[in-house]
Parts: sequence; C-alpha cells; structure tokens
Amino acid sequence: MAFALAHRSPSTVHCPIVHVDALPAMRGFLTQSASSLRRLSVALPPQRVSLLRRAFIFVVTLIVVAVAAPRAAAQKVELSIDASKPGAKIDRNLFGQFAEHLGHGIYDGIWVGSDSTIPNTRGIRKDVVAALKAIHVPNVRWPGGCFADGYHWRDGIGPQRVVRLNPDWGGVIEPNTFGTHEFMDFIDQIGSDAYVSVNLGSGTPHEASDWLEYMTAAQATTLEKERAANGHPAPYKVALLGLGNESWDCGGNMTAEYYLDRMKSFSHFVRNYNPAQLEKDQMLKIAVGPGGGEERWTDWTETVMKAYQQHTWSWDINGLSMHNYTVVKWPPAFKSVGFGEDEYAQILKTTLEMEDLIRKHSAIMDKYDPLKKVALVVDEWGGWYAPLPGSNPGFLVQQNSLRDAILAALNINIFARHADRVRGANIAQMINVLQAMILTDHEKMALTPTYYVYKMYVPFQDSTYLPVTFEAGSYKHGDFSLPRVDALAAKGKDGKLWVEITNVDPHQAAEVELNVTGINAKSALGQTLTAPKVDSVNTFESPDTVVPKPISASAQGGKLILQLEPKSVTVVAVEP
Ligand code: AHR
Repeated sequence: MAFALAHRSPSTVHCPIVHVDALPAMRGFLTQSASSLRRLSVALPPQRVSLLRRAFIFVVTLIVVAVAAPRAAAQKVELSIDASKPGAKIDRNLFGQFAEHLGHGIYDGIWVGSDSTIPNTRGIRKDVVAALKAIHVPNVRWPGGCFADGYHWRDGIGPQRVVRLNPDWGGVIEPNTFGTHEFMDFIDQIGSDAYVSVNLGSGTPHEASDWLEYMTAAQATTLEKERAANGHPAPYKVALLGLGNESWDCGGNMTAEYYLDRMKSFSHFVRNYNPAQLEKDQMLKIAVGPGGGEERWTDWTETVMKAYQQHTWSWDINGLSMHNYTVVKWPPAFKSVGFGEDEYAQILKTTLEMEDLIRKHSAIMDKYDPLKKVALVVDEWGGWYAPLPGSNPGFLVQQNSLRDAILAALNINIFARHADRVRGANIAQMINVLQAMILTDHEKMALTPTYYVYKMYVPFQDSTYLPVTFEAGSYKHGDFSLPRVDALAAKGKDGKLWVEITNVDPHQAAEVELNVTGINAKSALGQTLTAPKVDSVNTFESPDTVVPKPISASAQGGKLILQLEPKSVTVVAVEP
C-alpha cells in the first residue's frame, strides 16, 4: 500500500488527492475486517461488541484520513529555450568511461577469457559489449588511475604474460592477461576510442615512447613487427593520451614544478606514428591537473597553465585533467543503498560543488589560454561511497541507486554548461567499481540507473548547447537547500531539439511548460527515469526496478506541458 506522506513546505500549495493505487488494497482490508467483526459479534458479550465496533470505526477513519492525505501539488515551471543563440558543442567525449585494473572492473567485468562458459568474443563478455554499444561510449580511459603509474606495458603483451601484484587495489594478483591487444579489441568491439594513460610515475619517457611506437607505427620498425607478430599488423588508433595520473598523490607525490619538467619530456618523446592521425584526428595529450579546490591545486593549475602559455614547438598539451568525486568527507562513509532523504539531499548538494570547481579552474586557464585551446577534462568523477559490507575494501564495490542517476544528470548538465572549456569527462568507473554503468557477477549482469542516464543522453553527444532559463524554487531538506529542477537543452546532430529536465525534489512533481523561442512546439516525446525510492537499485534478482519509461506531451491551448514525477530524470525531443 502506498501510504506515502505528503511533503509539506510553507511555499507549496496542497490539495487532497486520494492515492488511487491504494484504493483496491484498502477496499480488501475493510471487507475482510468487517466480516471478522460480524463473526466476533456472535461470540462476544454486547458491551465488548460495542467497544469493538467503536475501535473498528476509529481505525477506518484513520485509514481514510491517511489515504486522502494531501499530496504536494505539482510545482509549475516555465522553461524557455532560446534556439536562436546556439552555444558551444557538447563534446561526445563528455560521456567517456574509465576502466582501471581495480577489483572486478576488468577481470570478470570485461574479461572472462576465451575458455569461459560466459558468452564471449576472444575473451571479452558479449553481454557487456552489447550494453556498452547501446550507450555509444566515446572513449575509455585505461589502464588507470593509480594503477597506470605502476603499469609496464610489456607485462601485458605476447604469449607469456608477467604475473604481478596490484599494490594499489587490494594487493591481489594481476595476471596481465588483459593487456594492450585485449584493450584495443574491447574498444573496437564497443565502437569506442582509446584514452591510454602512460606511466609517468615509475616509468620513463623511453618506456612510454616505445609503447606508443608499438601501438601506432605503420613502418617496419622492430616494435611494429612485434605488434604484427602478436596478431595486429595494422596500427592502432590512440585518440587521447594521459600524461600521468594524480601525480600530486598516488602518481608519485610530485610538486607541480617537478611534474612539469617530467611532463614536458613525456609530451615531446611520446609520439603517435599512426598515419591516419598525423593530420586530422591527432592524438590529444592530457596533462595532470587539479584534484579539488584547495590552494595546492589552484597552484598546480597555475603552474601548468603558465608554462603552457610559454610553450615552445617541442612540447604541447591539449587538455588538463581534473578529478573530483562526490564524497562528503574522506574516507567515504555514506551508504550506496539503504539510505534515506538526509543522505539523498546531502550527496546531491555536495555534487553541485562541481560547478564552482570548474569555474575556479577555468578562470585560471582563461588567464593563460584565453582562446580555450586546452580543454578541461574531468576524467574521474562520480559518487564514491562506503564499500558494500563483505566486499574487499580495495575493490571499491558499491551499489548504484536512483540518487546516482540524478547525480549523473546534474554533473553532465554542469559539464555541458561549460562546454566551451570542458570537452571531456570520464565517469569512475565503467563496470563493478564506484559509480558503475554495469554490475556483473559471473554470468549475471545488471544495468544500473546511471547506465540508463547515459543511454537517455546519447542524443546530446556532439550536440549544440542552447540557453535555457527557468525558475523552480528550491528543494529543502533539513540544512540542505538546492535548486528543485535542473535542465539542459541542445540541438542534436539529428537536427532535433533535445531537452533534459531533472526534478531533484523527491516529493513534489513538476509541471513544466516548455517554450521555445521561434518555434511553435507541438509535441514532446522521450523517456523518464524514476523509481519508488531515492535508494532504489537494480539487482541481479530485480534488474528492472529503475528503468526508463516513455513520456510524451502534446500542445493544448498553445501550451506544451510535461508532467514530471518527483526524483526523476527526463529527456525529450521537442517537435514543431
Ligand atoms: O578511481 C579510483 C582511484 O581514484 C583512481 O585510481 C585514482 O586516480 C583516484 O584517486
């Protein structure tokens, strides 16, 4: 029975609505109770019967009042889109993924080996490939993370792999059965691009330069022949190159100045030789950037960008990485499932700090790079919660709830609003780790609420940003207050007008009137994602608790009105 309590706030209008879904259950309960009362009346003395009758009437009254309790009326929102003022391109690389050798992110998540009973193509899970193809993953960052700065590429090629330990993540055995060729095969199977992070921490420019030659050379060098002998005569494409990872911390605890010296040398020597990437589709080099808003990181951005302003022909960067997880306090203690509204409101409030962080570092970048040649690439972000009880804490295993879907939408919208500078982002991490798209357990697979957000946002890849204005007031809970609604509008590559609206409020529906300047909007068609509770999740047993459902609206009286459920993410195409 859905006896949901109405959310009350002085600013909202309430009207009594009987919860229709509760009526059949209520009728059943009353019929059963009345017949039990009749049976008891025969057996009991008259005073007891009258007492029982009064108690029955009291309980019935209570139920009727509860069921007819007022529910918050939908918040009316006028949302205006100005299609005559197109902004920056919303780069498809904002929807990038991150796959590190960590826990079950690679092994079990992607790689099961060709002799596995789990359906696979050359050792790579077919179910995972099909799911990822459907969300059009633009690039996958690999092999880490912290793991990348201890990774030696030769361990993962050829018939004889080097078995090592993974000291960063649980100290487990790293068999290196998933190496360069397996990664490139995986990228190819899902139709994505490679974002390879080279080892700038414990490696050398020489080692990294050899790796790039091995992957990309087309001429008959020794390394090119070795690649061909290992099964791939054609050069691989490397779209993005990470010059280290968190070099201020797990990547070698460097000062900004020391990192800069090393980075320049990697930038110069680590070359891409693929003939198809020499003119167009050139490899983009991403330098390590900030990990938050503290002074040490503003200094870091200053140091790297100031040097960039004066860079010579011999070194260059195309992007500066930024890492920012939604974690109220380290170590992460918030639960990923089994939480209530306090944690919902606090996590979403915290995630909105992304916008200020982007503003802060963009402002520094603007000083030294006013033409915005260097992209800000948020290549690690997402909700980071306490490890699930019973899991290896080094594996960063967590569930993924409706809250994460809303968190993802809010962050993607922030990136899109800053699309002139933010041209890449990689959610952490793709499978079985942190805020994942996919969870696997042997042959089982579940798609998370975050996965569905990525699927719904596909039309925004390489779309053109359009300004959108609205006023929806605030969602308040305890000490937390945040905008009730968020929205994004863009002209898709398909020429259509796409609109995303997130209703953060877990109690109040939103009635959104869509107005598009210069267009007589007649209908809207798309999908909406919500669930019974803020912490609803998809599990292997119940994989369809949080899945999108169709939503549509057609103009009436010249108005196009969308009815959005509380705590929901909605994407529609608006048709003239
Ligand atoms: O995503 C998990 C870890 O978080 C990455 O390895 C590291 O770069 C970051 O600290």
